[in-house]
Amino acid sequence: MARVAYVNRRFLPLPAARVHIEDRGFQFADGVYEVIPVQEGRLIEEAGHMDRLGRSLHELRMPWPTTRRVMALVMRELVRRNRLREGIIYLQVTRGSSPRDFRFPPDPAPTLVITARSQVLGPQRLVEDGVGVITIPDIRWKRRDIKSVSLLPQVLGKQRAAEAGAYEAWMVDEDGFVTEGTSSNAWIVNREGVLVTRQANHMILRGVTRQAVLRLLAEEGRGLEERPFTVDEAYQAREAFLTSSSNYVMPVTRIDDRSVGNGKPGSLVLKLRDLYVAYATGRTS
Ligand SMILES: Cc1ncc(COP(=O)(O)O)c(C=O)c1O
Repeated sequence: MARVAYVNRRFLPLPAARVHIEDRGFQFADGVYEVIPVQEGRLIEEAGHMDRLGRSLHELRMPWPTTRRVMALVMRELVRRNRLREGIIYLQVTRGSSPRDFRFPPDPAPTLVITARSQVLGPQRLVEDGVGVITIPDIRWKRRDIKSVSLLPQVLGKQRAAEAGAYEAWMVDEDGFVTEGTSSNAWIVNREGVLVTRQANHMILRGVTRQAVLRLLAEEGRGLEERPFTVDEAYQAREAFLTSSSNYVMPVTRIDDRSVGNGKPGSLVLKLRDLYVAYATGRTS
């Protein structure tokens, strides 16, 4: 079945979907995006993703391309037209197309592109052994809270991870503290058994999955520290994991060339994963 995309008010077969060559997303990475997971045909954490989109747009002084309500309808229609059960919706807004000029166009007409793709979320086959991460310098700009399509450092980081046989790269700031993964948030249970993840300010993206896991932790009455942790603290951790819309909660069992704990996924991460999967699939038995 041919995939269907939505581009500026039209549903089109993917090969026919086009944006202008002077689109500012293409020329300046002047755009923002969201990846919304779909499980059993339902959008997970839609409100969280739309709130974050609104915030990213606001921070870059970009108008909404259409109303939230229309976007919600379009996303559902794309799920239907693509017969999507499990996968992701990719949604991108740019400042539109106009003759190349760094300054904002006087009357911007944003470009809106939405696609849907079938994909296994939080792949169970990776959970048994967990995944490996490498650490790399964080070379990004200082507004990582904005979900911008300017992703070159993440592209280079993920490629480096792949070439090192790792699943993800954890980026490290100038003071030796882990910021986050190239497309995920980073967590550890340190040597003392304290769950630690970096506080969400301008230095990292406020992951929607991260926020959901924080809520689940609060419901369980499990405490944590929201603060930066060093690479050394991560090396010595009992457990480590990453969270993202497409990975859910994924155990990390190797950091650079060292095993985390006994090299197997820890009990807390497996419990959190179960809780999150139950929540995402609506099976809260
Ligand atoms: C840099 C970065 N951090 C964290 C995340 C996780 O965010 P979410 O849980 O909203 O998918 C992503 C997702 O793409 C990301 O790109």
